[in-house]
Amino acid sequence: MIEVAADVFFLQTANTSYWFARTEHGHLEHLHYGPLLSPQHSSALQVKRTIELGSSVVYAPGDTAYSLDAVPLEYSGIGQGDYRLSPVEVFTEFGTDTDFTYRSHRILPGTVPAVGLPTADGGAGVETLEVTLADEVAGLELVLLYTVFPEVDVITRRTILRNTGDSPAEIVKLASLQLDLPDRGFTVRSFDGGWIHEAHAHDRPLSPGVFSIGSTTGASSNRHNPGTLLLARDADDDHGWVYGVNLVYSGNHATSFERDAHGSVRVLSGIHPQAFRWILAPGEGFEAPEAVLAFSAEGVNGLSDRMHRFVREHVTPRAHRDVERPVVYNSWEAAFFDIDEKRLLGLAKQAAKLGVELFVIDDGWFAGRADDTAALGDYAVDAKKFPAGLGAFVNKVGKLGMACGIWVEPEMVSENSELFRAHPEWMLRVPGKTPREGRHQQVLDLCNPAVRDYLVEQLGALIDDNGFGYVKWDMNRHIAAAYSPHVPHPGMTAHAYMLGLYDVIARVFGPRPEVLLEMCSSGGNRFDLGMLRYAAMIWTSDDTDPIERLSIQGGIAQLYPPSVISAHVSASPHQQTLRDTPLSTRFNVAAFGCLGYEYDLDFLTAEEKREITEQIAFYKEHRRTFQFGRFRRIPSGTEHRVIWQVGEGDAAIVGNFQRGVRAAPERDILPVAGLHPDAVYRVDAKPQRLMLERLGALVNHVSPVKLDPGGLVMNVVRKHKSLPDAVESYRGTGALLAVGIRLEMQFAGTGHTPALRMLGDFGSTLYTVVREDTP
Ligand code: GLA
Repeated sequence: MIEVAADVFFLQTANTSYWFARTEHGHLEHLHYGPLLSPQHSSALQVKRTIELGSSVVYAPGDTAYSLDAVPLEYSGIGQGDYRLSPVEVFTEFGTDTDFTYRSHRILPGTVPAVGLPTADGGAGVETLEVTLADEVAGLELVLLYTVFPEVDVITRRTILRNTGDSPAEIVKLASLQLDLPDRGFTVRSFDGGWIHEAHAHDRPLSPGVFSIGSTTGASSNRHNPGTLLLARDADDDHGWVYGVNLVYSGNHATSFERDAHGSVRVLSGIHPQAFRWILAPGEGFEAPEAVLAFSAEGVNGLSDRMHRFVREHVTPRAHRDVERPVVYNSWEAAFFDIDEKRLLGLAKQAAKLGVELFVIDDGWFAGRADDTAALGDYAVDAKKFPAGLGAFVNKVGKLGMACGIWVEPEMVSENSELFRAHPEWMLRVPGKTPREGRHQQVLDLCNPAVRDYLVEQLGALIDDNGFGYVKWDMNRHIAAAYSPHVPHPGMTAHAYMLGLYDVIARVFGPRPEVLLEMCSSGGNRFDLGMLRYAAMIWTSDDTDPIERLSIQGGIAQLYPPSVISAHVSASPHQQTLRDTPLSTRFNVAAFGCLGYEYDLDFLTAEEKREITEQIAFYKEHRRTFQFGRFRRIPSGTEHRVIWQVGEGDAAIVGNFQRGVRAAPERDILPVAGLHPDAVYRVDAKPQRLMLERLGALVNHVSPVKLDPGGLVMNVVRKHKSLPDAVESYRGTGALLAVGIRLEMQFAGTGHTPALRMLGDFGSTLYTVVREDTP
């Protein structure tokens, strides 16, 4: 709900309030963002202007107490006495001096469409407040858009700058969001990393000065996700005030947190200003990407829940919203480039038997693609690998009861390709300089309309001619040498590239809404809300080691829901870490996302096949809870144990993961959150197998006959026999389960019973929690 009374703007969601007021000099003063308040007594929330502080600059003659440096502002400028970082830097005839004051406002139903940029989708009760500010001397108009999503407790912010003057203006910086908050002992949490170790959460207490994260790689990047959190002093997973900020954008971004000397914190978020310029001719406007804000007084889990519901209900493509994602088989880690119809059909037959629903042909299917040095850009199928063509393969997969998907990397081109030979001028490159390659590939200039048309046509034909129901869209390098002759100023290239990319994706998938798009960029190098406007899920990381994934998925899930987090089970020792992990744990972690397998199925033992068949059946049975249930991180009190929960109310699933074993381990407690306190629940460990090779020579303690652990007999036995693992059942009220079940003991070197938890390093168990009494 949006209400405006006596120059105060009240933006209300179900549980939060965001207020600001027009000051006596026409600036917009931020009053409150936090818990829901009834819209009254707003002046009590105003920063008091009582005296003039030494060395400050006052805004107006005769009003010595009004210094903009001390006013929390909705959007500042430069040159008016506010010396915190400015959200806007635009050069006009008089330099960068800007003073934006109120002109008008209106309240609009729903969302306001943007040109060329993805923005969140409307829904029940959604409204937008548009406030227009201006600096007539500079010849600039600034439009601030606030869209309120009441049911999910999210408010989005957008900024549009228009040149109302007679000469061109040059934008250097235009933040999507400025948020001035009183410091509540804030800690910034960012999600950082790199290839195969994306989105690890890092906390830093704010101190005087500026802390910023961002990307200049041309993508939202695996270095710093655009989403960040601000935790008030004493906030934790379940308690305290937490703010979340994110961007609906996939390119270079920057978010900064500045604490000033008077206990005020300024958050700015938007396109990264490095190497950025946007030229505004008279009459033209520029729109910054949409920023997303959420607040929770119930800790990080409360904040995540708001962001998750926002993504599910207002971001992901409509045709796939609330639709369960299929269980995937992907050929990459099994076969890399060594694929052909025969090999893939062999894998497909086995995958179908295991219960897989969608078979994906990854890299290596097009002519000349024997490795990553050639052929990107050409879309002709390799006739040697697929003599009957891709359509025939899709039909064969269809007969096995599975849909079929294809991998593409449309933004890239290999120098050794037909496309490069035909159009060497289609690359992003600085004339006269050697192109900077990454993974032997160059970047197509998506600022060029001809390049975009080519991609739209090629990709459309690939999907339509062969009947693909799914596309994995990859992008495997950072962008360098961002120069295009197709934009009026070189500083426009990186953003124009992003607008070009959105244009291509919208034109390919807009007319084909039923095609499931999975985004990928060397794993999670472009995991952002911009991509999620078009893609129903994103490949989270090229790292499929479940222990590393505890950090990666554990980080990304603080901002994005499990229904968009693509997670696969692969062979162990893991390709990325050489770590050896149990098959059960590989599944137990991947199940907290969109499940898939990328595994050489030819070498599975009979026991492993049985285990995987049961895993997939279990996942399908509980898929709605895994993908769309409320996700929580349950505090375990220790670094080496991770607990995740999905679902609440009548049914939930809890995963208990052990990163590393401790000798004579502590007695573990498993709390379950969000249940009805008086209802009675049954808690069962998901049955899983303990593979015999995990026991080594210890197998002789449980075997009736003595076996050579490395011998021939043992090699045959381990393929057909395993031990039951995790045989546990409990009962309790919701209130009791919230306190926590004292789990069975862990293996501690002195014996074995079926109830003993054989976790060791990297062991884990899933527990189903089901309400027993009828409400
Ligand atoms: C990237 C992706 C992988 C795979 C390969 C193919 O690394 O992240 O999943 O598709 O490219 O070349």
